[in-house]
Amino acid sequence: MAFATRHFVRAASSAAATAAAKKLIVKHVTVIGGGLMGAGIAQVAAASGHTVVLVDQSDEILKKSTKGIEESLKRVTKKKFADKPEAGAEFIEKTLKNLTTSTDAVAVVHSTDLVIEAIVENQEIKNELFKRLDKFAPEHTIFASNTSSLQITQLANSTTRQDRFGGLHFFNPVPMMKLVEVIKTPMTSQKTFESLVDFSKAVGKSPVSCKDTPGFIVNRLLVPYMMEAVRLFERGDASKEDIDVAMKLGAGYPMGPFELLDYVGLDTSKYIIDGWHSLEPNNPLFAPSPLLNKLVEEKKLGKKTGEGFYKYK
Ligand SMILES: NC(=O)c1ccc[n+]([C@@H]2O[C@H](COP(=O)([O-])OP(=O)(O)OC[C@H]3O[C@@H](n4cnc5c(N)ncnc54)[C@H](O)[C@@H]3O)[C@@H](O)[C@H]2O)c1
Repeated sequence: MAFATRHFVRAASSAAATAAAKKLIVKHVTVIGGGLMGAGIAQVAAASGHTVVLVDQSDEILKKSTKGIEESLKRVTKKKFADKPEAGAEFIEKTLKNLTTSTDAVAVVHSTDLVIEAIVENQEIKNELFKRLDKFAPEHTIFASNTSSLQITQLANSTTRQDRFGGLHFFNPVPMMKLVEVIKTPMTSQKTFESLVDFSKAVGKSPVSCKDTPGFIVNRLLVPYMMEAVRLFERGDASKEDIDVAMKLGAGYPMGPFELLDYVGLDTSKYIIDGWHSLEPNNPLFAPSPLLNKLVEEKKLGKKTGEGFYKYK
């Protein structure tokens, strides 16, 4: 019996070792989209020793992304290597050595293990990109999208590698926020899923997993909560200032819902809620808000335009 148990344990651990060996260890990463999210993802991937190519539509945009990454690295280094400025300078140099840029995704994707897409939140544009890259990326390459509101399954269906396709949802600002939601569609293989979990850990994040459902975990809870705050205000039950104070002091949230809406952008929030409303028109949590629609129409989009629920000028 003891022998059988030992034999079983050995067999099980060797099976686990084989499965682990099959997992893809990501070394070369291509990040498409050098905006707010893509630049952050490229930064944390390069800082953790991956070779990264950051792709965007023009050299001008990429220059801006690289400058942003350099500034962010300086901030991170100041904290991380407060007493060791030399080690800090070495860390920045090493990270930047791991990072190159390109305007031609097709030309760089042939030598990549993982493509992370962080371009504009538009289904057709993303589908078109994935369909094109699918023809040029090696067989083993995993594709991942950082989309906040689109279905990963629909993006995966624009390729022939649905088993090597998943969601990697980072949070803003990427270098600071510890969470990554790893999204598994019904077609994502276990090996792909585990490779994405391992990659998330390798870049210093804490991964959680979720099925391919609207908003995944965080936004599925956060967006209806913010919309409920707007409805509370619309009904005249409380002022927006008091709602913000209440949630900060009563629930311990770092920002109130109106401050958060202004930070995220009212256009982005409207885009998400409108998309979910069209999927589930009878769900009261996904109902559009006349006040939010009015502010977006007036181009009061939050912090980025100087005015949203609050004024910033
Ligand atoms: N902003 C957030 O807080 C946040 C958080 C999590 C996820 N996301 C998701 O991340 C993605 C990117 O968001 P963002 O806020 O970084 O947007 P952004 O507008 O800051 O950046 C998008 C970048 O993609 C580039 N781009 C557009 N089409 C391209 C193409 N075909 N090829 C190469 N580059 C292209 C643009 O030039 C731009 O630089 C979206 O899917 C969004 O839903 C955003």
